[in-house]
Amino acid sequence: MVKDIHQLYKSKVKTIDEALQTLQSGDFIITSLGAAEPIPLLNELHRIKDYGIQGCDLTNCLPMGAYEFITNPAYKDTIRTTGWFYSPAMRQAHKNEIVSFAPQHLHTAFTKRMHARDGRRLVLLVGCTPMDHHGYVSLSLSTTYERDAIDKGAFVIAVANPNLPRTFGDTMVHVSELDVVVENTYDVPALAESLLNDKDKKIGEFIAELVEDEATIQLGIGGIPNAVAEALKVKKNLGIHTEMFTDGMMDLIKAGVVTNRKKTLYPGKSVATFALGSRKLYDFLDDNPSVLMKHGNWTNNPYVIGQNHKMTSINTTLEVDLFGQCASESIGPMQFSGTGGQSDTAVGAQVCPEGKSFIALYSTASVKYKEVERKTISKIVPMLKQGAAVSLSRNDVDYVVTEYGAVRLRGQAVTERVKRLISIAHPDFRDELRFEAKRNGIW
Ligand code: COA
Repeated sequence: MVKDIHQLYKSKVKTIDEALQTLQSGDFIITSLGAAEPIPLLNELHRIKDYGIQGCDLTNCLPMGAYEFITNPAYKDTIRTTGWFYSPAMRQAHKNEIVSFAPQHLHTAFTKRMHARDGRRLVLLVGCTPMDHHGYVSLSLSTTYERDAIDKGAFVIAVANPNLPRTFGDTMVHVSELDVVVENTYDVPALAESLLNDKDKKIGEFIAELVEDEATIQLGIGGIPNAVAEALKVKKNLGIHTEMFTDGMMDLIKAGVVTNRKKTLYPGKSVATFALGSRKLYDFLDDNPSVLMKHGNWTNNPYVIGQNHKMTSINTTLEVDLFGQCASESIGPMQFSGTGGQSDTAVGAQVCPEGKSFIALYSTASVKYKEVERKTISKIVPMLKQGAAVSLSRNDVDYVVTEYGAVRLRGQAVTERVKRLISIAHPDFRDELRFEAKRNGIW
């Protein structure tokens, strides 16, 4: 039996060039998320044009590389790229009219995107660990939608990299489910450790005061959530149910603050759909049975999230208006990142009887102005910039926190929201906000 697995594996091993030639014109391609993406294959993907392959659609999510097919307009008819969550390379390619954005909530991203497939062959390009002696590879740092694509019968091209951590749960895939394996050793993209400033520490303290012992937490993407993790080190028996697993969470587990003992769903386990952080984080995740990777369709379903004990979600935003609407993914009409699970997790916390959700942001941002200069603007505004996407609606917003305090908007009338939000705006902007609130009849 063991011999058969190895024979089966061997029969699937190909070079990158051979793998590229298994693609077909018109394929509907999905690539795995963030640091789980198969980098050496994506570095060469544009070369399918040399093999006469045309008209493929590709969807990605937070890609780590500035791949030729994303950045070079010469390939835009060969591979039409769409993003669920932009990275710097995707933002630039969008400005250059090469790529476009597909608005989605994380928990329905894959199922909704399938409506654009139109009967074409589904192809999944993933990174994975080398096969173990049971015949399984691990999809490692993401199973956000990758397992769903395999279950839908995708043609799977996997790049096996021994530097990827072996994680458990929906990341485990049997070799019989793979069509092509490319063996390649490469460095996994890692984020630099972020240093906390005074504003981060203040925001962390305000949130920590409101997070209860035994809460099940979700921390989102961005600089502030890691600062919050640091401040949560005074808590007891926290649990983790999150889409993104971070360095801050690893530190809370190592400090004995996260025990997962009081969780209702998968007690004893931290549940996540993807991980992104430092090399230290990837080493922590390697062969670690206390972290369970579950697919995003389940993990981020608000009704699943809401079943957790004292569900507490903590995310960040770019701009919030005096109604409490959060523009977290675009600056005006210009797409910056994506909705991800911001709305999923806030709504999930709302479904939970003792749930709380936090949107944490600095009161001001230093933004580019006239190309070379920078100016300070308030992130709390009377109205969102024209064309901004509302990632979290005013109906679902709960606590908003800046370095000046934490206010609760849930259930509050707009007049009260205006007062509370102005009380946590930067003092230099409060008069102007009051004036604009009155002028626009929001008061
Ligand atoms: N107007 C204009 N520009 C603004 C701005 C505003 N109100 N607020 C911030 N910016 C600019 C900053 O100046 C910075 O620009 P720079 O790169 O030129 O310096 C840039 O936007 C990023 O701001 P920053 O505060 O550093 O962002 P971040 O890296 O902490 O990420 C989000 C914040 C909101 C983009 C990120 O959290 C996100 O995408 N959230 C939505 C998805 C989500 O929450 N998912 C849930 C769980 S994973």
